[in-house]
Amino acid sequence: MPSQPQTSFQPDAVPQLDLPAQYAAIGAEIRTAVERLMASQQFVLGREGTALEEEIAKLCGVAHGVGLASGTDALILALRACGVHAGDEVLLPPFTFVATGSAVSALGAKPVFADIRPDTYNIDPAELERRVTSRTRAIVVVHLYGLAADMDPILAFAKSRKLPLIEDNAQAIGASYKGRRTGSLGDAACLSFYPTKNLGAYGDAGMLVTNSAELAQRIQTLRNHGQAGKYLSTEPGWNSRLDEIQAAILRVKLGHLSNWQRARQSHAAEYNRLFSEIPGVMPPLVPQGFEHVYHQYTIRVEQRDALQNFLGERKIGSAIYYPYPLHLQPLYSALGHKAGDFPHAERAAKEVLSIPMYPELQKEQIARVVDTVAEFLKC
Ligand SMILES: Cc1ncc(COP(=O)(O)O)c(C=O)c1O
Repeated sequence: MPSQPQTSFQPDAVPQLDLPAQYAAIGAEIRTAVERLMASQQFVLGREGTALEEEIAKLCGVAHGVGLASGTDALILALRACGVHAGDEVLLPPFTFVATGSAVSALGAKPVFADIRPDTYNIDPAELERRVTSRTRAIVVVHLYGLAADMDPILAFAKSRKLPLIEDNAQAIGASYKGRRTGSLGDAACLSFYPTKNLGAYGDAGMLVTNSAELAQRIQTLRNHGQAGKYLSTEPGWNSRLDEIQAAILRVKLGHLSNWQRARQSHAAEYNRLFSEIPGVMPPLVPQGFEHVYHQYTIRVEQRDALQNFLGERKIGSAIYYPYPLHLQPLYSALGHKAGDFPHAERAAKEVLSIPMYPELQKEQIARVVDTVAEFLKC
């Protein structure tokens, strides 16, 4: 989980993320939307949430969206609605935010890790065959940093094994794979609107998107205490409703998302151009037919920790997503994994560094970041 966003209050600093700059540009629109909501005094399950669900479903190219309290809840509810129970196994990559794994654990199911590809950081489809067992009940793929996993072989595997496939699309809203949007490729997909995401709320919020009317209906019931009718509950659920203030804010931001996405892609192209001159830095790989939305622009360097310090001393922000792969987290010590079990995830955890990336980033700032990385590598 990203910590508090860094800000641009220091004029010569290049923060890793600059949410205050975004608010300076859209604050008036946000305040108008919040004012309208306050006047309506409708705070839970109202018109804003319903409209947002329709708009996000359309963006993802699916029929249904169900607003929820967080991306983590979206994962838990998706797994539950797909029939995952205590004792079942779920396949997932070890190189992701912990929520992907803890959603599996929350149901009493067992995360079974499948290593990533070293070039894209996403799950290696070939690994699924090696890790599947008779107890496997579902697959969760993560579209890390805003780049889709290689879905065709994963979909073929899921189909051949009759396993439900859930996309953890928390970081990749708007991305696409061979012309199809992430979020529309599996049986259900989870979105996070955590404030630092490409489409971020002003608090926690999330959504499940799916083409299945039946699944959407079930999630609507589960997010509201299992109530199928008013005060009539058919199964245990809890409260995971998306609130109206967040929905109203997200609808304003959604109107800017395609421009922001283009800006991120153009910054990435500039970084790529400049880094092509600098040996020792591996920029993000984007395979043919994939559209990356650069939630993060993540480079790979051998001396990662020293580089991060060097950048920090020169007021350039950076972040490590993620320094500990899930199989080596204390949380999962009972699974009995050891260093070396998932070498690609482990190496990525030691070498990746996410450098400044946000729509408001300036060309001169990009040049400064790249020059500073080059200066470090010459040391
Ligand atoms: C890959 C991934 N999965 C799941 C989540 C969980 O989303 P949330 O923070 O909205 O619960 C996040 C976001 O933090 C994430 O980056």
